[in-house]
Amino acid sequence: MKTDYSRHEKVYVRLKKSGKTGWDDEECVADNVNSLMELMQAEYIPRFGNMLELGCGTGDLILNFSNYKLFGIDISPTAIAWAKENADKNNINADLQTGNVLDLSRYPDDFFEIILDGHCFHCIIADDRKIFLSSAMRVLRPSGIMIIATMCGEITDENIKEHFNEGTRCIEHNGFATRYIGSVDDILDEIQQAGFRIIDKKLKTRKSMDDQDELFVICSK
Ligand SMILES: C[S@@+](CC[C@H](N)C(=O)[O-])C[C@H]1O[C@@H](n2cnc3c(N)ncnc32)[C@H](O)[C@@H]1O
Repeated sequence: MKTDYSRHEKVYVRLKKSGKTGWDDEECVADNVNSLMELMQAEYIPRFGNMLELGCGTGDLILNFSNYKLFGIDISPTAIAWAKENADKNNINADLQTGNVLDLSRYPDDFFEIILDGHCFHCIIADDRKIFLSSAMRVLRPSGIMIIATMCGEITDENIKEHFNEGTRCIEHNGFATRYIGSVDDILDEIQQAGFRIIDKKLKTRKSMDDQDELFVICSK
C-alpha cells in the first residue's frame, strides 16, 4: 500500500497561509489538551523527566507540559518552525526537530519518561505501524509511559466513507493511504504484539456522525 507522510507539509503551508492557529481549531485543541490532562492525573504517570511528542505539529499539545523537559518531532518543517515560534512566544524550552517518527535514532535508548502520540499513529500505515511502535519502545524508559491517542471504530462520516477501504481500514486518496482507522480490538492487539503492556484505555465516543471515535491507550514497556 502506497503512502506519503511528507504530504503533511503541504497541509501546514496551507494552514499557515490561511491564518489558522495550527492543525486543529482552538476548541478542538482545548478538548485534546483537557482529555490528556485528565489521563495524566493517574498516579502512575511520571511527574518529571523527558517527554517526547510523536507528530507534535505546531506544539499545541506538548507545549502545555512545561514541567517536563520537552522534545517534539514532526515530518513537516513548516510545523516545526511554527512550533518553535509558539515555544519562543511562551518562553518555553523545547527541543523540536523535523524528522520521521519511523526513525528515532537521534534519541538514545530508554530516554523518555513519557511519550505522547499526538494523533500521529493513525497517520502511519501498514507495516510502518510496527516500526512506529518498536522505535517508541526503544526510546521509552523501562519505568516510562506511552500515551497513544488514535481514531478508531465504525466510520459514520459520509466524506470519510467515500474514501474508506474496508479491506485495509485505510482512508485512501488517489491511491495513497492517508489514515488507518482500525477497530479497538485490532489496535489494542497490535500495541500488545509490539511488546507493550496496556495499563489503561479509554474510548472517547464521537459527538456527531461526522466525527470519529478516539481511543486512548496508556501503556508501558
Ligand atoms: C493529526 S496531526 C496532529 C498534530 C499535533 N499533534 C496536534 O495535536 O496539533 C498529525 C501530525 O503527525 C505528523 N506526522 C504524520 N506522519 C508523520 C511521520 N511519519 N513522521 C513524523 N510526523 C508525522 C503530521 O505532520 C501532523 O503534524
